[in-house]
Amino acid sequence: MHFAANIEVGEGEKAPGAFYENNVAGTLNVVRAMLDLGLQNFIFSSTCAIYGDPESLPLVEDMPKRPVSVYGRSKLMVETILEDLSRAEGLRYAALRYFNAAGADLDGEVGEEHDPETHLIPNAIKAAAGIGQGMKLFGDDYPTPDGTCIRDYIHIADLVSAHILAAEHINATGESLQLNLGTGNGFTVKQVLDAVERAVGNPVPVEIGPRRPGDAIALYADTSKSKAILNWVPEHSDMDTIVSSAWAFHKRVWSLD
Ligand SMILES: NC(=O)c1ccc[n+]([C@@H]2O[C@H](COP(=O)([O-])OP(=O)(O)OC[C@H]3O[C@@H](n4cnc5c(N)ncnc54)[C@H](O)[C@@H]3O)[C@@H](O)[C@H]2O)c1
Repeated sequence: MHFAANIEVGEGEKAPGAFYENNVAGTLNVVRAMLDLGLQNFIFSSTCAIYGDPESLPLVEDMPKRPVSVYGRSKLMVETILEDLSRAEGLRYAALRYFNAAGADLDGEVGEEHDPETHLIPNAIKAAAGIGQGMKLFGDDYPTPDGTCIRDYIHIADLVSAHILAAEHINATGESLQLNLGTGNGFTVKQVLDAVERAVGNPVPVEIGPRRPGDAIALYADTSKSKAILNWVPEHSDMDTIVSSAWAFHKRVWSLD
């Protein structure tokens, strides 16, 4: 299972060479080394960013791929390489296209902490807990019910179970897969902030800024293929479970108890 990558979209726009070297050449090196050793099964962290700005929703796996960022293009390039290697060199892979990975493990032991943090939920939790300088909301004038962007948030525990099922599937069948991993439900940024306020018990101080270039208005998955092939159904991805698990993790690492 290959998770390592550069993930910061803005960084990719500033320095695409280093980004492609790490995400594309780095992954190719890993896969070729595996094949040289006779290892054929590979799980790849792909992303909904490969679809770009969708013409229609929900996103289905075979829809056109027109990524609007270096990050999305780097992941699509890898998917193309994997497809070619599976056709000609015996690789068997699952490209798992995560939507927005979120939440922390349900015991509060493992969670996400980036520096700088760019993800919505940890930033909103920080702001609600009075840590740092409040948070910026990028655009509240989108054509959505409350003006903020819509995304599909998937709990990390559900992502984990999908990886295990995908590994078992390619091992048992030898079939390669490209699958969306989301819930199929879209939440606006403001709906996420409401959930953070419920979990933390404080308002989230927000500074409304302009739209961020490259942000699609709405992205959410069609999950029927993952359900049909893996029999995978997210169990922990309701928004309150996602946010309360993240809050439990952050409370512990920031010693707020
Ligand atoms: N977080 C999401 O919502 C999301 C969505 C879609 C896809 N993904 C993908 O999931 C994977 C994990 O993402 P994450 O959110 O945990 O990001 P992350 O930044 O927390 O994890 C990526 C890790 O890879 C490491 N890394 C990068 N290049 C490396 C190299 N050459 N050698 C060794 N380590 C290296 C980084 O140091 C980092 O620790 C990534 O491939 C990302 O593209 C994440």
